[in-house]
Amino acid sequence: MPTFEYAPAPESRSVVDLRTSYGLFINGEFVDGGGTAFKSISPATEEVLAEVSEATDADVDAAVKAARTAYTRVWSRMSGADRGKYLYRIARILQERAREFAVLESLDNGKPIKESRDVDIPLAAAHFFYNAGWADKLEFASLGPNPRAHGVVGQIIPWNFPMLMLAWKIAPALATGNTVVLKPAETTPLTALLFAEVCQQADLPPGVVNIVTGAGPTGQAIVDHAGIDKLAFTGSTGVGKMIARAIAGTRKKATLELGGKAANIVFDDAPIDQAVEGIVNGIFFNQGHVCCAGSRLLVQESIADEVERRLKRRLDTLRVGDPLDKNTDVGAINSRAQLDRIVALTDAGESEGAERWDNGCELPSKGFWFRPTVFTGVTQTHRIAQEEIFGPVLSVLTFRTPQEAVAKANNTPYGLSAGIWTEKGSRILWMADQLKAGVVWANTFNKFDPTSPFGGYKESGYGREGGRHGLEPYVKTGA
Ligand code: NAI
Ligand code: MG
Repeated sequence: MPTFEYAPAPESRSVVDLRTSYGLFINGEFVDGGGTAFKSISPATEEVLAEVSEATDADVDAAVKAARTAYTRVWSRMSGADRGKYLYRIARILQERAREFAVLESLDNGKPIKESRDVDIPLAAAHFFYNAGWADKLEFASLGPNPRAHGVVGQIIPWNFPMLMLAWKIAPALATGNTVVLKPAETTPLTALLFAEVCQQADLPPGVVNIVTGAGPTGQAIVDHAGIDKLAFTGSTGVGKMIARAIAGTRKKATLELGGKAANIVFDDAPIDQAVEGIVNGIFFNQGHVCCAGSRLLVQESIADEVERRLKRRLDTLRVGDPLDKNTDVGAINSRAQLDRIVALTDAGESEGAERWDNGCELPSKGFWFRPTVFTGVTQTHRIAQEEIFGPVLSVLTFRTPQEAVAKANNTPYGLSAGIWTEKGSRILWMADQLKAGVVWANTFNKFDPTSPFGGYKESGYGREGGRHGLEPYVKTGA
C-alpha cells in the first residue's frame, strides 16, 4: 500500500475535442474508408472514444498514389531548406498543442498522463525539430555522395508509443524528401488522426503525409503495394519476419524495429537505491509496454536479497490507476488481447516454478489492468526469461561473475538494449563491448534522445532510427 494517500488530481479532458467518427487522411483531406469502421476505446474504462475508418486495398492504393503525386510534383522539387520550414512548423504546433496530444494519448492508449505529458509528446516534437535541422544539410551528414529520397515510404507503427513512433517515422522521412503513407495501430489511432489535422494546420502540401487506419490487413496492403519504395516497421518480431519474407526479392528497402528482452545488470558495487529506481523505470515505465524494457533483472548474487527487499518496498508505493490522474505511475494495459498474453505468460512462469510476487494494489473494476509483478528464482529456460511479456512483469535472475552476467544477458534471441549498474568505468566499457545490444545504458535506463541512434541486433530487427544514422535508411546515394 502507498505510504500515504494523494487526493485525486485528474487532468481535464476538455482540452480534447473528439469527433464521433474519423475518416482516412488521404491527399490532405479526410475521406471515408471502404472497410468496416472500428472503435477505439479507452483501455482504462472500456469507453468508446470514437469510430475509425478501415482502409481497404483500394484506399491504400489511393494513399500511395497521392503520396507519389505529391513526391513527383511538389516534395522532390522543393529545397531542403523549404522542407525544413514545414518540419519546424509541425514541431512548433506540436508544442503549442502538447496538452491536447498528451490527454488524447493517455485516453486512447491508457498510459499515465505524466508520461505522455513529459516524455511522449515533448520527444515527438523534439524529433521534428531535430530532423528539421538536417533537411538542408543532408550532404554534410556523412550519408555518402549525393543523398536523395527513395520516393514513397510505407510506415507501420505499434500502440505502445503512438505519437512518438509516428514522429520517429515521419520526421526523418520528410526531412530526407520522401512522402509517406503511415498506418497507426488499431487500438491507438487517435493521435495520428489529430496529427493529420496538424499537417493541415501547417499547410503541408496535400499527399506528403497520408494516414490510413486499420489492422493487420491494412498493414499488409501497404507492405504488398508495388508503389512503395521503402518500408519502416515497429512491432512484433512475428510480423517483422512476415514483412521481411513478403519483400524478399523485390526492390523494396526496409527497416525493422522489433521486440526485446533486455538485461538490466546490477553489480555489487552499484548505488543500490539509484539502481532500484532504474529497475522500476526500466520495467514499469509505460506498463512495461516498451520494446527496450529492462524485463530481465540480472543481479549479483551477493546483493540479490538486499536488492529484492528494497525493490519490493519501492513497488509497494507505485500508484496504479486512472491514466489521467497526475499522480498515477502505472496506467492501463493497452488491450484485452495484450492483457491475455501477459496473464498467459505469467501463469507459465508460476507453473514452471518461479516465485511470483505482486504489490497487491487495488485495481479498477472496469478496463484492463495488471499489478506490478516480480518473479524471483527464474532460470534461463523459463519462458518468462526468454519471451517478451510486454507488460509490468520483471524476471529476476542472479549471477556471480561479469562473464556469467554477459553470457546470461546475451542468451536471448533478441538484442535491443541493456543496462549496467556499477561504480567502475572500466567494467562499464568492458560490458558494453561484450553485450549484443543496440543500446547500452550505464547507471541509467530508458533514456531517449532524438540525436542518438536506436535499433537492434539479432531478432530485434535491423536499421537504426534517430540521430544521423536514422537518416541513412531514408536515402539512396551515389550517381
Ligand atoms: P503487431 O506487430 O501485430 O502490431 C504492430 C503493427 O503492425 C500494428 O500497426 C498492426 O496493425 C500491424 N500489423 C499487424 N499485422 C500485420 C501484417 N500482417 N502486415 C503489416 N502490418 C501488420 O503487434 P501486436 O499483436 O499488437 O503485439 C504482439 C506482441 O508484439 C506484444 O505482446 C509485444 O511483445 C510485441 N510488440 C512489440 C512492439 C515493439 O515496440 N517492438 C510494439 C508492439 C508489440
Ligand atoms: Mg484505444
